[in-house]
Amino acid sequence: MERWSTNESAKVYNLNNWGSDLFSINKKGNICVHPSPNSKYSIELTTLVDDLIKRKIKPPILLRFMNILEGRIASINKVFKNAIQANNYPANYQTFYPIKVNQQRQVVEAIAHFGKKYKIGLEVGSKPELVAAISLASGNGLAIICNGYKDTEYIETVLYATKIGYDITIVIEKLFELEKIIELYGKTGITPKLGIRVKLSSKGTGKWATSGGEDAKFGLRISEIITAIDMLKKHDLIDCVKLLHSHIGSQVTKIDKIKNALIEGARIYVEMKKLGVNLEYIDIGGGLGVDYDGSKSSYFSSVNYSVEEYANDVIYQIKNICDEAGVACPNIISESGRATVAHYSVLVTNILNTNTQNQMPDFESILTQTDKLSPTVRKLVDIYKSIDRHSLREDYHDTLQLIQEAVSLFNLGYLNLNDRAMAEWLYSKIIKKINNLVEKIKPVPEELQNFKLSMRQTYFANFSLFQSIPDSWAIDQLFPIMPIQRLGEKPDVIASIADITCDSDGEITSFVGENGRTKFLPLHKIRKDEEYYIGFFLIGAYQEILGDLHNLFGDTNAVHITFNKKTNYKIDTVISGDAIMQTLKYVQYDGNEILKNVRDNLENGVASKKISIEESSHFLELLDKTIQAYTYLGE
Ligand SMILES: Cc1ncc(COP(=O)(O)O)c(C=O)c1O
Repeated sequence: MERWSTNESAKVYNLNNWGSDLFSINKKGNICVHPSPNSKYSIELTTLVDDLIKRKIKPPILLRFMNILEGRIASINKVFKNAIQANNYPANYQTFYPIKVNQQRQVVEAIAHFGKKYKIGLEVGSKPELVAAISLASGNGLAIICNGYKDTEYIETVLYATKIGYDITIVIEKLFELEKIIELYGKTGITPKLGIRVKLSSKGTGKWATSGGEDAKFGLRISEIITAIDMLKKHDLIDCVKLLHSHIGSQVTKIDKIKNALIEGARIYVEMKKLGVNLEYIDIGGGLGVDYDGSKSSYFSSVNYSVEEYANDVIYQIKNICDEAGVACPNIISESGRATVAHYSVLVTNILNTNTQNQMPDFESILTQTDKLSPTVRKLVDIYKSIDRHSLREDYHDTLQLIQEAVSLFNLGYLNLNDRAMAEWLYSKIIKKINNLVEKIKPVPEELQNFKLSMRQTYFANFSLFQSIPDSWAIDQLFPIMPIQRLGEKPDVIASIADITCDSDGEITSFVGENGRTKFLPLHKIRKDEEYYIGFFLIGAYQEILGDLHNLFGDTNAVHITFNKKTNYKIDTVISGDAIMQTLKYVQYDGNEILKNVRDNLENGVASKKISIEESSHFLELLDKTIQAYTYLGE
């Protein structure tokens, strides 16, 4: 076996750059998760997964590391506290967790619990989210900010909740919402707490840039803000407006875009104050990005700034503008979702199979007697025998042309099945040889890197991309993916990852590599009788809730884990993934009805002697068990 170190594995997967010191490789070559960055304590993922399987919790398993979640909340707040101190900022910072990022009750409850000492609040964007937040906020003083389109029912619900003591701010996104608020204020006499969302002309970057700018879907234009102020003054509601909101998009990759938005937002704040609006808060929305590929660049899966730089800019820019205008500095709110929850979730699953080429017949002996082969196949044999590093490029192009020729000749009836199989075999052999030669050329010229792709094998993983990492499919988002074991061995297979949906789109062909995005994932050869697990990292934000039921693959099993000094880890919560019965129910099938229908058919089958009574009851039992089983694949 070629010598290989765990450091080399860390490099190949760029682990140290995206891992935020929360993930490492131990001496055994296994991935470890640390409760906090660089902590000497860790949980070995392979051991954890083995233990979970012993508890009959099957892969795919979504692992939620609660210490990491707690740590992210603490570190964002600490960074802001430091920036406030460094800039002598005279007001406070608060995070409002946007629950759209993951609304799972257990997750939001944990966030509320960990964030209590930082007075964390919740941001909602719809009526269902509002209802969830009200239920979570009951009796604990958790404040709520309401964004998104609002109808009468939405606003009325907020008003009555406000009346009984909930701290809820309604952010006016549209003028028609303000009309409804005024009308309901008149009807109920309940005074609302209001915010105004402004459409900044500053835009973000990357995939969500259209959330900002003048064409943005949400927010009031400056002219509409003037109208809103007049309307609010007319109806004696101007003193209810406490918050100015803006959001230029999620995952803003460039710090200068954030700075521009801050300056514009702060300028609007001071001007509104001068017009007599009694604002107290600037809410800068979301946008604090995550460095998914570890490149620290403005590429859309990365960010060219740190959380420290972000916090410093927020505090500095707002203070600067307020000081210049002689206006008191506001309390600052950020609705940082992605940056809070991306890191704490890891999906682990098993590789079911690969499409390796070693199941091909062995044509080696034919190489010595080529006279009976077709001229096309013979030319491929010649290339296979003679190829060296000097003829690489030419031989590669000839090989591509000859394999195409072989297919055309076969279709026209000039090549038999055996010769076509031989051509296929030679093609894979030649590509392998080219790859071995390319590996020795350092650095590999860019045009030769594509050779590698011809070697790519598909590893079939037990998961649904559409359910577990939908953004990889929908917007080409990169997530770090890597094996969780054997990292002391060279990963010498070039692979793509296919899921188990019947969809050719259910394949990942873009990965985080040493030098940025790569089109293949280095993996190890699968050993017989040994499970091979891969982990999908930084998937805590948006993925779970955006996931869909393609092919009726449902929610995965999810497990909440905390680090424990005595026992290494403690399982806090197990949330069972969907059973087949549940995903069928989403599409209006009823498990009992299915069983009844099949039972009726079986009785007919028994009566007509198509099936024995024993077989019939075996089938019914099997169907019953299947309906109650996990939607993913077992043994
Ligand atoms: C209004 C609002 N606030 C906050 C967020 C969360 O953004 P992020 O996850 O980038 O922090 C979003 C998401 O796009 C949003 O629309």
